[in-house]
Amino acid sequence: MAQDKEDSQLKDIVALCKRRGFVFPGSEIYGGLSNSFDYGPYGVEILNNLRKLWWKYFVHRRDDIVGLDSSILLHPRVWEASGHVSNFSDPLIDCKSCKVRFRVDHFLDEKLGEGFTVGKTLEELQQVLKKENYACPNCGKSETFTEARNFNLMFKTQQGANEGGTMDIYLRPETAQGIFINFKNIANTSRKKIPFGIAQIGKSFRNEIMARQFVFRTREFEQLEMEFFCEPGSQKEWFTHWVDYCTNFLIEVIGIQKESIRVRQHEKSELSFYSEETSDIEFKFPFGWGELWGIASRTDYDLTQHEKASGQDLKYTDQSNNKKFLPYVVEPALGLNRLFLSVISDAYEEEKLADGETRTVLHLSSKVAPIKIGIFPLMKKDGLGEKAKEIFQTLREHWYCEYDESGAIGKRYRRQDELGTPYCITVDYDSLKDNSVTVRERDTMKQERIDIQSLKSYFIDRI
Ligand code: GAP
Repeated sequence: MAQDKEDSQLKDIVALCKRRGFVFPGSEIYGGLSNSFDYGPYGVEILNNLRKLWWKYFVHRRDDIVGLDSSILLHPRVWEASGHVSNFSDPLIDCKSCKVRFRVDHFLDEKLGEGFTVGKTLEELQQVLKKENYACPNCGKSETFTEARNFNLMFKTQQGANEGGTMDIYLRPETAQGIFINFKNIANTSRKKIPFGIAQIGKSFRNEIMARQFVFRTREFEQLEMEFFCEPGSQKEWFTHWVDYCTNFLIEVIGIQKESIRVRQHEKSELSFYSEETSDIEFKFPFGWGELWGIASRTDYDLTQHEKASGQDLKYTDQSNNKKFLPYVVEPALGLNRLFLSVISDAYEEEKLADGETRTVLHLSSKVAPIKIGIFPLMKKDGLGEKAKEIFQTLREHWYCEYDESGAIGKRYRRQDELGTPYCITVDYDSLKDNSVTVRERDTMKQERIDIQSLKSYFIDRI
């Protein structure tokens, strides 16, 4: 796909998100805070639906996973033990002339081809920069870059109200550590036996150098993570299981098209400092393939580190044979905001209609769609409005519905198409005589007459 087309597709999606109240630029009335976003009335409905579907699939549907909601602020020693203080960094350079900052690996990959920097050390990247002597892409000046250096991605802040009595702490860069430090509590109270998992949804923060591509990479984002604790030696089998289970969630539960995702295994040189094996489920974003879900085999790295640093025994005892061991961990880690962008991009279509017009439509699955049913009276007057409101009051007890009586009926349909609403009901003059309404299906635009009494069972079968 040509770069221009890719850029324009993302622009169209960003424009739709703003126009229809899915996502707004953050702090907009103050000129905006770069790369921050607020989710509007329809965006928040989609986020809630995605969270609920994930929780049901990972926690409620399984006997071997329980939930957790741990703090964002953890003791700073957690991040020393986990390795984030020393290792969680990106290589960066600054332009001394215009002061713009770049991620060296992204910068060189763009110049020399995707994957060029995989496995290269900071010194090797520095040598390439020196040899190629690139100009700054922002101001065009040459020989203005600083030496490449590692930049820690954690946001630091202070805890404590008194001057001098404060302690430096970090906003969590992943939700996973809250799970590891609670492993013993949960193993002791939940009656779960290994293998079992702990799932958590929550915000994470990373001071990304090059936050970009709409909500794909932001400094504040939300993660849906699950740490699955298993016997050492069984991790390979579980790793395969979780890659398949996550792929199935995207296709069967969320309704993402098969062709829009692929699984990519990490090369040894790409692995994070805690991982012995990682596969990403990638999504075909408007700007190309990108990581949506990382599945990592974290061994007993984290529990070992926390055991050493805290001095606490974090081992699990198998009651059947009294064997004590530190479990191995397989972790599927998903970004909620990337999942949001994936479902919107996958569903987005500018459809050419038979009459030559174009309609923008989101083919969202009804489980993900913010509104399930739009309800319109053909006219406000002559009792049609009252009849439509009665239907609205009945159906809203079961599904999130929207009542709309303003503007031409065609415009009301188009608005709901852009919101991804799978069904619309129109109450017309015949409805007053035969007690039936027109139900229009979003994707086919087919309309059928349904008796008002049968509406609930009609939608139970479909939504
Ligand atoms: N606990 C492991 C972990 O955090 P990760 O691959 O760094 O692994 C997991 O993050 C997922 O979180 C990614 O696959 C992505 O979906 C999401 N994610 C990571 N950084 C992000 C960012 N800056 N903005 C939005 N989503 C992000």
